[in-house]
Amino acid sequence: MSGANSWQQLARQGESGQAEPSPAFVRASPDREDRQNMRATVLTAAAVGGALMVSLAACGSPQATGAGADAPVTLRLALNQTKEHPSYVALSGFDQRLREATGGRYRIDVFPNEVLGAQQEILGLTGDGIIDLAVISGTQLENIDQDFRVFNLPRVFDSVAHQSKVINDPKIVGDLYTSLEASKHLTVLGGFTQGERSLYTKKPVNTPADLAGKKIRVQESPVMLRMVTTMGGSPTPMSYGEVYTAMQAGVLDGAENNEVSYFTQKHYEVAPHFTYTRHLVGLDYIVANTESLQKMAPADRAIFDREWTKTHQEFVVLWDKATKDAITGATAAGAQFHEIDTKPFDERLEKMSESFLQNDNQRQLYRQAREAATS
Ligand code: GCU
Repeated sequence: MSGANSWQQLARQGESGQAEPSPAFVRASPDREDRQNMRATVLTAAAVGGALMVSLAACGSPQATGAGADAPVTLRLALNQTKEHPSYVALSGFDQRLREATGGRYRIDVFPNEVLGAQQEILGLTGDGIIDLAVISGTQLENIDQDFRVFNLPRVFDSVAHQSKVINDPKIVGDLYTSLEASKHLTVLGGFTQGERSLYTKKPVNTPADLAGKKIRVQESPVMLRMVTTMGGSPTPMSYGEVYTAMQAGVLDGAENNEVSYFTQKHYEVAPHFTYTRHLVGLDYIVANTESLQKMAPADRAIFDREWTKTHQEFVVLWDKATKDAITGATAAGAQFHEIDTKPFDERLEKMSESFLQNDNQRQLYRQAREAATS
């Protein structure tokens, strides 16, 4: 497994020897202050709780909450989606079932709307054990271990069903999911699909030429930067929660995401043209602090794993419905969904992916994923 520095460094180095432009950051959002206040409160409480646990442990007190061996344990989960998003709904169900099945010994506190911070930072806090669980886009894991980039590449997955086969096959992903435990204290539980991602813009887009000079928001990763450049646009990396305001202010001409994010983030209000480029099938990982999992008694861990599996199954069903509802909702609000000939984009993107496969592990993951498309 290969380590990495910051994604900015990786991006500047370029992945095939070419320098990428320095990313422009945009930091402004109307509810940013509210989010910061909430974040400060929760994280301070977490840090104080952690300190208390350490001092009680030093006195020989029982672990977990420091209040007794059977004291309820609350796992904090960070999410950057709204409460309407299927991941919030599925994870709230996880909390409920976990509480019931453990007789209230375990619960999950799901913090939506990026209130605990953007994914980049959340990943570090999860590794540090300040946060126990988080939903993190594959693009962020790519920045701490480049092997994760394989599943972020355009065209690695043909469909959500194909992706699902790959991410639930321990023969393919078993080592990858545990690969960050020793170095980063992170365990990957599994994935939630992000569905097919497409472009949305203020003005319609039909061809790569229409994207010339257009600033398109991307997630902060070298693969995403290169992808939008390859598609003909000008990539602007930015965290998810800042995108609406940046499009509204005209700092961006558009973004790329799935219909569910387009709708739940209300991006259609400021970028009414959703163009089906279907340039990739995105993936979120559910990441846990490794020690938070190890602290569980084996019987509780078995319940946790069982309920996680159910959560994943529930998410799959919710996702399909949410996608349909998002199209209906955004259309009713005036958005237009355009089907185009994607061939000119496809041809460019196909060539791109190969240049990102740089070691045997990455090539093997890619090969296994592609084989699963036809098996
Ligand atoms: C999707 C994905 C998020 C990700 C977001 C983004 O909504 O589920 O995890 O952060 O895209 O584009 O940043």
